[in-house]
Amino acid sequence: MASQPQPTAFPTGAELLQVQADLWRHSLHYMTSMALRCAVQLGIPTAIHRNGAAFLRRLMRLLAASGIFAVDNSGEESVYCLSPVSYYLLVDGIPRDEQHISSHSSFVLSATSTRCVEAALGLADWLKKDAVAPPFEELHGATLFHESLESIDAEFHRLSNEGLASHDDFGIHIALRQFSDIFEGMRSLTDCGGGDGTTATAIVKAFPHIKCTIPADGVISYVGGDMFKFVPPAQVVMLKFVLHHWSDEDCVKILAQCKKAIPSREEAGKVLVGDIVTSCSPGPISETQLLMDVAMLTVSKGRQRDENDWSEIFVKAGFTDYKFTATE
Ligand SMILES: C[S@@+](CC[C@H](N)C(=O)[O-])C[C@H]1O[C@@H](n2cnc3c(N)ncnc32)[C@H](O)[C@@H]1O
Repeated sequence: MASQPQPTAFPTGAELLQVQADLWRHSLHYMTSMALRCAVQLGIPTAIHRNGAAFLRRLMRLLAASGIFAVDNSGEESVYCLSPVSYYLLVDGIPRDEQHISSHSSFVLSATSTRCVEAALGLADWLKKDAVAPPFEELHGATLFHESLESIDAEFHRLSNEGLASHDDFGIHIALRQFSDIFEGMRSLTDCGGGDGTTATAIVKAFPHIKCTIPADGVISYVGGDMFKFVPPAQVVMLKFVLHHWSDEDCVKILAQCKKAIPSREEAGKVLVGDIVTSCSPGPISETQLLMDVAMLTVSKGRQRDENDWSEIFVKAGFTDYKFTATE
């Protein structure tokens, strides 16, 4: 008789960063193949052998080997169950400790969609020509996440924005605990490029004394507008997962606007950048960073940056003092 699936332990705080990296890595793994295709098309000798998995058991075996599902092989038959990663793929999300863990299935579906894959398939052609726009925009005539994409493909636009929104509060409660000293002393905050306001809402819930600018419910005020032209003033301006979508030149322009929006260092003015800092140490997190970098090349003018790249941008934007802090 086959053994019964064991209930999976819910991911702990320490596992959450790994879950995020795994979700990105598994959703974007095809970027390795696209980069390889590009290398072959450009004449760089490379060999790859891939075996397709035609049936569910083989598919599940692969997905379990990748850590997307867990497997119990102790009985006569393999029993598959949820792993920490697949917890985040439940269609309706899952309630947990008075919060709602949102589903990341839209992110997976959007990152593996024909629109994204086709853009990556065109990488070699794109590299051979002197294109101004990124491959995604060249191919589809609009930028990923931009409202102009809605009239071209409303369903894809909805899916990609849903995927983006689900990432907005990913691990935010852990970050708020880890960086509580920054938030405790904060008087006011502008969440620049703050999406649907999920992050700002979590911040105000944890630190009700902060006057926060972005979507409204009386405590938080929403201000529309272009961050290249104006950023609403506050003691602290936050840019979370915004700058990696933009070129170095654009980052300098955005940061310069943020600098104008904050008071002097003596008055505790700060710009808080939450983003990826690439490292050379091998491992899944580092691989995820490289996959995200090629993904950015495909869909935007942005890139992932190491400490030197970030320092250069901060200095060009007029900042003389900055500090890197890694999430644990
Ligand atoms: C990648 S999302 C980041 C969302 C959120 N901060 C997070 O942590 O997931 C980038 C956000 O920047 C906004 N955005 C793009 N261009 C902008 C502009 N020129 N001015 C202000 N916001 C902009 C988009 O609407 C989107 O909400």
